[in-house]
Amino acid sequence: MTGFSRTTQELDCDGVPLSAIARAVGTPAYVYSAALLRERYRELDDAFGEYPHAIHYAFKANSTRALVNELRAIGSSVDAVSIWEVELARSVGFEGRQIVFDGVGKSDAELDVAVALDLEAINVESTGELARVEAIATRSGRVARVAIRVNPDIDAKSHPHISTGRRINKFGIPVDEARALLTTLPARRALHLVAFHMHVGSQITSLDPIRRAAASLATLVHEAQRAGIALEYVDAGGGLGISYDGGPVPSFRDYASTLVEELRTTRLPIVVEPGRSIIGPAGVLLARVIDLKPRTSSSEFAIIDAGMSELLRPALYDAFHQIEPVISRDGGPRQYELVGPICESGDVVGRDRMLPPLAVGDLVVIRDAGGYGSVMASNYNRRPLPAEVLVESGTWRVIRRRQTLSDMLALET
Ligand SMILES: Cc1ncc(COP(=O)(O)O)c(C=O)c1O
Repeated sequence: MTGFSRTTQELDCDGVPLSAIARAVGTPAYVYSAALLRERYRELDDAFGEYPHAIHYAFKANSTRALVNELRAIGSSVDAVSIWEVELARSVGFEGRQIVFDGVGKSDAELDVAVALDLEAINVESTGELARVEAIATRSGRVARVAIRVNPDIDAKSHPHISTGRRINKFGIPVDEARALLTTLPARRALHLVAFHMHVGSQITSLDPIRRAAASLATLVHEAQRAGIALEYVDAGGGLGISYDGGPVPSFRDYASTLVEELRTTRLPIVVEPGRSIIGPAGVLLARVIDLKPRTSSSEFAIIDAGMSELLRPALYDAFHQIEPVISRDGGPRQYELVGPICESGDVVGRDRMLPPLAVGDLVVIRDAGGYGSVMASNYNRRPLPAEVLVESGTWRVIRRRQTLSDMLALET
């Protein structure tokens, strides 16, 4: 089995014991499986079959250079949400035409660079932004390739913080406004509309919102085509969820066939922007139990050396991640509240978990931490960013060393 599995009593990553990695690099540390990362990318790629498509991996989920390099090597393109992600992508060898540039608040400085780079598309999120792109392109004598991000007013039914497709959310342009914009485009010589785009949310665990959003996108594309606008592709965004708790989630195959079914009539290639579904399960956060103390008559606190500074999701969205000891001790399960070391009561990584008995010094892993883990880490409490490790072909290497206090202080006067 690719990725993280337990052959004996110990959890390993593609044959490398996690305890060996912890011994060498310390904890907390993120550990990724290159094989699982590639496997997930290929599974999604294959799921589209013969239908023309392009996978623009969403850097926002995790953009550690060695990981995005792995994806570049197997054919991925890029979805960036800031000019710094665009520049990172270019620095590892992605071409401008492999990059779509999203984001609800791109500054003029970011747009200046983006227009000059002739990216695959700047995905605009408001009529004001479209006008700013037009002004920059006109000033520099260029034609900007743009896609319009549509807000289809569809509830993705994920956590409110990561649902983006309702009219009340800050993202995209409502469908009626997008329709009105279409009529203005032929006269706007500095703009080249290449696609419509949507992204209705993240961690979506049902195909229904994806199907409805794609159907609404298809309607708009047909209208544009009838108006004589030759679009180049249709961008269905990212958002497919993963099973953090073991519950059912749509397969890549069902996801891809839903998109193809709804968008086939446009006769356009489909672009997708997956982040979490590619990288999430391919990474874990490795931590150590620092202390144990009684909590209630039936449960104990297990204080571990990773918390909201290393994995913000539980504190930010009440997100669930499976947690398990690296080496299981014998004995019946006990109830633990797994908490981080941060001085905040909200720094709870796992509530009321039944686990094999833990002892101080034991290693634990927090599963599915490959996406929205290291990218959301902070120096809160002056904690250094953890090391990141990539396991590949039976060996491992540090792909980002642990930050030091001097690294942090280097920016300060
Ligand atoms: C515009 C856009 N595209 C793609 C993604 C990637 O989403 P996910 O990691 O859920 O696939 C996001 C993240 O929310 C996004 O905002």
